[in-house]
Amino acid sequence: MVKVITYGTYDLLHYGHIKLLQRAKALGDYLIVAVTADDFDKTRGKINVKQSLVERIEAVKSTGLADQIIVEEYEGQKIDDIKRYDVDIFTVGSDWVGKFDYLNSYCKVVYLPRTEGVSSTELRKKVQNTRIGLVGYSSFINKVYREASSVSGVEICKIYSRYDTNLNDDTKKLCAYGESYSEFLEGIDAVYVHSNPHLHYKEVKEALLYGKHVLCESPLAMSKKQCLELIKIAKDNNLVLMEALRTAYSTAFSRLLLLVKGGKIGKVTSIDAVCTSLSTNNDSVQSFNDNWGSLAAWGPTALLPVFELLSTDYVDKTITTMLDNNQMDVFTKIDLRYLNAVASIKVGTGVKAEGELIISGTEGYVYVPAPWWKTDYFEIRFENPLNNKRYFYQLDGEGIPYEFVAFLRAVNDDYDEHNISNNISCAISDIMEQFEKKSNIKIIRH
Ligand code: CTP
Repeated sequence: MVKVITYGTYDLLHYGHIKLLQRAKALGDYLIVAVTADDFDKTRGKINVKQSLVERIEAVKSTGLADQIIVEEYEGQKIDDIKRYDVDIFTVGSDWVGKFDYLNSYCKVVYLPRTEGVSSTELRKKVQNTRIGLVGYSSFINKVYREASSVSGVEICKIYSRYDTNLNDDTKKLCAYGESYSEFLEGIDAVYVHSNPHLHYKEVKEALLYGKHVLCESPLAMSKKQCLELIKIAKDNNLVLMEALRTAYSTAFSRLLLLVKGGKIGKVTSIDAVCTSLSTNNDSVQSFNDNWGSLAAWGPTALLPVFELLSTDYVDKTITTMLDNNQMDVFTKIDLRYLNAVASIKVGTGVKAEGELIISGTEGYVYVPAPWWKTDYFEIRFENPLNNKRYFYQLDGEGIPYEFVAFLRAVNDDYDEHNISNNISCAISDIMEQFEKKSNIKIIRH
């Protein structure tokens, strides 16, 4: 019996795939189809696959051409599979010519003609072209434009910025000069908001009332009441309102949460999160945030692991801050006490510290090195170092594409991919509000 194996993502199964499978099947007597896992696709840069692994497997199954379907999960698996399943022929489409010649030492390699004129990438573009306008007043918009444009289905068609000095040649072309905000909202399906947090409520509300989906950098609003109101408007109008906090959409951070929630370090007893950035480097991701104060710039990120792992039901909190001559906070420390745990966050835009995250549990602790908020790596450590484990994940760019992929899914497919619950959004806004009021806050001298 001649065994044939072929690999692919098979997103939005099309006739190019079917022809390939038919030709592959005709090469032998038994066809194994390896469908790539979502994580594996991410590591090779395919981040905006539209269908889930289960849907893609079902689609391949429905062709009736595969005798066996397996999942491709890691780099180098092809050699393992060929040996494990005693494969005679490895085949893929001609777009891969030469790429898999190294497999010739294990079995015969055949490149089949690729069907012209169709691809998943093209289909994805047709299915989900969402016209997005960017709202923001900093050079960060250039980065968002560059990274978000790489996501198929995203069409960045307008930019609303009051200070175009921060924009580059590409983004300047899209700047809606002279338009009012409501004029800017015409002709787009959704907005991404990255302005001064004090403007979020107004800009998000107006966009929602104009029937636009919204992806807004955290915090959504500067008070819990406003945050609840925005969530309600979005819900009543069947619109997506998603909080954009890049860390929440990174694979490493999501896996870390799952491991800790699954009891890997026992009961979580203490969390220490530190995020700082000094405004010396214009290219620094957060430098644009500096004049918004340290809590507005970093608070949501630092609070995220705390609220995710210990809930938003803290018993009490102490906020200590250092204000500069303009009454702007350059350093803020928040201590939260829970019934069985404590958490402490330190954020700074005028103070530098090691930006690490430590989650302590009754059986071990998680250590995420600086800068933990955009990490691709963390360790789980125990009393006996032999039991320590290191975890590595891929993170592309600043992680902006992941946010946009999740947003598109929510907009187009009704997938509830909100990585940040409404509860957490409100708790973040609540802390912002209390800080703004400066009530019950300890102030230290600059
Ligand atoms: N394939 C083909 N003809 C096409 C598209 C794909 O023969 N028009 C083949 C590929 O060469 C590969 C298999 O189908 O052997 C699975 O390819 P996959 O990457 O899943 O499909 P694409 O449509 O190429 O996806 P994308 O646009 O995301 O790269």
